[in-house]
Amino acid sequence: MMEIEDQHILIVDDEPSICTGCTMALSDLGYPTESCNTGKEGLDALLSGRYQLVLLDMKLPDMDGMDILEKINAAKLDLCVIVMTGYASVKNAVTAMKLGIFDYLSKPFTDDELCSAVNLAMENMRFKHAHLAIRRQQTTRRDFSNIIGEDPKILKLFDEISKVAVTDTTVLLNGESGTGKELFAREIHAHSKRADRPFVAVDCSTFSSSLLESELFGHTKGAFTRAVADKEGVFHTANHGTLFLDEVANLSLDIQAKLLRAFEMHEFKPVGASRCETADIRFIAATNRDLKSMVEEGRFREDFFYRLNVFPITIPPLRHRRDDIPRLLYHFLKKFCRQTGKHVDRFSDESLEMLIKYDWPGNVRELKNVVQRLIIITDTRVLDYPQLTDHWEAGVKPPEEDIPETLEALKAAKQNLLENQFGEIEKAFFKKALLDADGNITQAARNVGMQQSNFSAMMKKRGLTAAPD
Ligand SMILES: Nc1ncnc2c1ncn2[C@@H]1O[C@H](COP(=O)(O)OP(=O)(O)OP(=O)(O)O)[C@@H](O)[C@H]1O
Ligand SMILES: [Mg+2]
Repeated sequence: MMEIEDQHILIVDDEPSICTGCTMALSDLGYPTESCNTGKEGLDALLSGRYQLVLLDMKLPDMDGMDILEKINAAKLDLCVIVMTGYASVKNAVTAMKLGIFDYLSKPFTDDELCSAVNLAMENMRFKHAHLAIRRQQTTRRDFSNIIGEDPKILKLFDEISKVAVTDTTVLLNGESGTGKELFAREIHAHSKRADRPFVAVDCSTFSSSLLESELFGHTKGAFTRAVADKEGVFHTANHGTLFLDEVANLSLDIQAKLLRAFEMHEFKPVGASRCETADIRFIAATNRDLKSMVEEGRFREDFFYRLNVFPITIPPLRHRRDDIPRLLYHFLKKFCRQTGKHVDRFSDESLEMLIKYDWPGNVRELKNVVQRLIIITDTRVLDYPQLTDHWEAGVKPPEEDIPETLEALKAAKQNLLENQFGEIEKAFFKKALLDADGNITQAARNVGMQQSNFSAMMKKRGLTAAPD
């Protein structure tokens, strides 16, 4: 919730007495208030995005108030405007209203008139913000904010999973180890109508075939030697919810047949029981193996494969979406800093270059582990090349074909990589920060933990304005 002390006011008027008078009255209300005497100064200050409200004199010596209004409008600032004018020209008022001003004060005005106009404007602003915050919560709920990734391949998956999540369709997640299959499975469940019901994950590779059967379906007392009491299986626990069958390629043909029956008949039989129990379960399965070829080799039941493969989703390995590498690196950097209480600001350009080039055979899990290790080890605010080479053997060796022949070629390659890849990523990073803060630069800088001046400098460097499109 936005507080009064976060609602900064700027007064732009060439008459110093007006500035002092207003400043005093508004400071008494608790609003941090500043003033400028020229249009140019006022406009520059407003474009910094620091203010929530401006009291603008329409008749300034150096600039026309209407021009200022047009410019702040074009910058799409999250700013409320109250116009002050010595003469109430109707034509001006109408044009100014079109430019979205909130209110009008015609000079001379009393402190009371000023305060009630400002209070009303600020209340309106707080209401708008609260409303926006609620809307954002709703969208993040529908969004997949736990999954970091903006590569088009991942965005396409978001689209697919948002569509399939709400259905009861069986989903088969394919992907190398560490690509996030379980994370996706949990998100599908979280976006389904079963979200309030259990999500139960079973790793099909950790049990022997007979143990797995009782783990899945449960058993009755005396069903086998160690069955000293009735036991409910995960089918029971997951009833009305989602059952995630992980590493499904490891299922024995025998269990596959039993699962097939459970899928088709919506019922299962605990080991040793004489009667079936019904199950209302949504299934999500995951594998890093090629089930189709296992079917061809006779190691996986074809009928069961088709039962699972209703809605296949393949999560691409990290090396096929390198743009996401810096995003993930910074995501985990922040996460582990929070966890450890350390202050690490960034990766040096050299280290970032190396991390982007690496092939990440263990995908996101491997990347997460590397960042965690680096954060634990580092004593500096910048994770740089020497730390990386000391604590990350796997990535130190660059891929053979990319080794430049000369020093010039090496420099060129570095420049190229930085400009092409990092430039875009950096731009996207600042753009997103701005978007998340509704174009408010102060807020955006604060959110990412940067000084506002540095943030503005980076925006300028990457050609961004406060109103990203
Ligand atoms: N896109 C992502 N954004 C954020 N975290 C991710 C992402 N992908 C994976 N992770 C994290 O990486 C780790 C590995 O992910 P997960 O366990 O879902 O992978 P997996 O595909 O199931 O791996 P395996 O096949 O080895 O079981 C988890 O901690 C997960 O939260
Ligand atoms: Mg997994």
